[in-house]
Amino acid sequence: MNDTTDYCDLRVEPSKNGSLAWPCMPKLKLRQVGIAQLALVLSLFTLVVLIIVTNNRQLLFTVSPYSSFPARSRFTGFDKACGVFDEDAINDDEEFNYEEIHAKWVAKNVSRENKFHRRLRLHAAYRTRRHYAVQITSLNLFGQQVYCRYYDCKRNELGKPQKSLVFPETTVYCPKRRGAVYMSLSKTETDNPENAVPLIDRTMIEPQHFLTVCMAPIYGDEIKWIQIAEFIEHYKLQGATFFYVYLIEIDNYSRVILEDYERRGEIEIVNMYDGYNRTNRYWHMVQIHDCLQRNRHISKWTAFVDLDERLFNFGMTIHSFLNNEVKNNTIASVQYRQRWIMKTEDSPAKFVDEAETIRWMPTVRYTNTSAVGPKGHTAKCIVRPEKIGAMFIHWPFAMYPGYSQWQIKPEEGVVRHYRDIRSGDWGKKWLGGVAKFGNFSDTFVEESYLRKLNRAVVDRVSEVYGKVE
Ligand SMILES: *[C@@H]1O[C@H](CO)[C@@H](O)[C@H](O)[C@H]1NC(C)=O
Ligand SMILES: *[C@@H]1O[C@H](CO)[C@@H](O)[C@H](O)[C@H]1NC(C)=O
Ligand SMILES: *[C@@H]1O[C@H](CO)[C@@H](O)[C@H](O)[C@H]1NC(C)=O
Ligand SMILES: *[C@@H]1O[C@H](CO)[C@@H](O)[C@H](O)[C@H]1NC(C)=O
Ligand SMILES: *[C@@H]1O[C@H](CO)[C@@H](O)[C@H](O)[C@H]1NC(C)=O
Ligand SMILES: *[C@@H]1O[C@H](CO)[C@@H](O)[C@H](O)[C@H]1NC(C)=O
Repeated sequence: MNDTTDYCDLRVEPSKNGSLAWPCMPKLKLRQVGIAQLALVLSLFTLVVLIIVTNNRQLLFTVSPYSSFPARSRFTGFDKACGVFDEDAINDDEEFNYEEIHAKWVAKNVSRENKFHRRLRLHAAYRTRRHYAVQITSLNLFGQQVYCRYYDCKRNELGKPQKSLVFPETTVYCPKRRGAVYMSLSKTETDNPENAVPLIDRTMIEPQHFLTVCMAPIYGDEIKWIQIAEFIEHYKLQGATFFYVYLIEIDNYSRVILEDYERRGEIEIVNMYDGYNRTNRYWHMVQIHDCLQRNRHISKWTAFVDLDERLFNFGMTIHSFLNNEVKNNTIASVQYRQRWIMKTEDSPAKFVDEAETIRWMPTVRYTNTSAVGPKGHTAKCIVRPEKIGAMFIHWPFAMYPGYSQWQIKPEEGVVRHYRDIRSGDWGKKWLGGVAKFGNFSDTFVEESYLRKLNRAVVDRVSEVYGKVE
């Protein structure tokens, strides 16, 4: 065996259990070296000939966003960050013709909005193994032709602009290009591009999380610290391990707890603005489209919910429901029906003490609950981000072929939506409709769960807002 290690100067010693063994280069006999070199020269020659013959420089530098990837190892079902989950393979090497599928959806106006400005304001960009996805804030460029602009690590433009289009609304898929670190867009090949944004890495083969949460944009006057703590601690107890919190505006006091969660690596805050004076609630679709891309490949499942919504599965956590009950790998969306719980007061402005915090937690304080909304009506979903072609607030606009949605029964789980009946005139506009679904009744969060939630919330808010003597 000694002679096989001669070439292994940089060898990494195998660990005791062998899992980190780094295969070292076997010593090659002279004749083998000759053959290896010949093979290398031949394959380089073939590539050059291919490029000359097809006059296709992109063969070297650009890969179509729609081309499939070389075979890669199948997902083995181990979530490094967050423990073991199911053994089902996650294989996003789908053999779809994305170009064809997307063209069909473009023709059907899937996710088209026709709203507000038509500027190419950049929001973010994601690097996946298939393509780059550049996000804009305009909701009025659906299907429009645009040009992808590529930049290297020094922000120098890299190669020629590449034609693409806006689909779904707010997303532009760009072909990959070697060396690209920042991306921008322009409407024509020669237009001045917008200031570039960095490509956020989403090239992972195995997701780092089993369940993440996208929180709808935060805005409005109400002080939110207690709701934020309850929201995050609830979904953590349900098995979520990361949160994307979208921010339009927030009071200074509540911002402190958000920043504390961010400092501890539990959430990422995504600020939303583009200089256009749109009504705040119209940021929601921009957020949905962005959060779908943001969660691709990094999480197996992603919940799309609002600050005042608490999803529950009965008798188990959401994590164990998704892990143990959602057995069919073709399910790309699990949809929960709504129950509205009447919230009738503003949340408290400041932390006082543990007892006051518990008294004001929405899950403790409010119990007057509507009947379950009909199927699909303002429902909320947890989805497999890569399987969804375009997402909406209440259901996927489009799923890739072979995938479908499971609408769970109200006995299996619901959204408990702690709706402030005063905000946005909800009480006047919508309450009447909700009352038609059936009688109101008092419903409660299961007691042992509520105790755990109380503890988690109180611990966190005391740490953030309590006085250190
Ligand atoms: C798509 O939307 C455009 C603009 O709103 C409209 O002109 C067109 O008829 C729509 N097409 C379909 C198939 O609905
Ligand atoms: C936050 O604090 C700053 C500085 O004290 C103040 O100017 C601003 O109005 C505050 N913002 C809110 C939303 O309360
Ligand atoms: C934004 O629009 C709202 C409603 O149309 C208006 O009341 C407000 O003054 C506008 N704000 C600015 C900064 O233009
Ligand atoms: C999964 O669901 C699909 C679509 O409903 C169905 O065709 C398939 O048979 C199911 N697979 C299993 C293993 O149940
Ligand atoms: C529950 O809320 C409904 C709708 O706001 C209201 O009509 C009803 O009186 C409330 N019930 C109780 C017990 O407060
Ligand atoms: C709703 O409440 C009314 C009045 O208390 C009662 O007569 C009716 O049976 C209830 N409906 C249902 C579906 O429980």
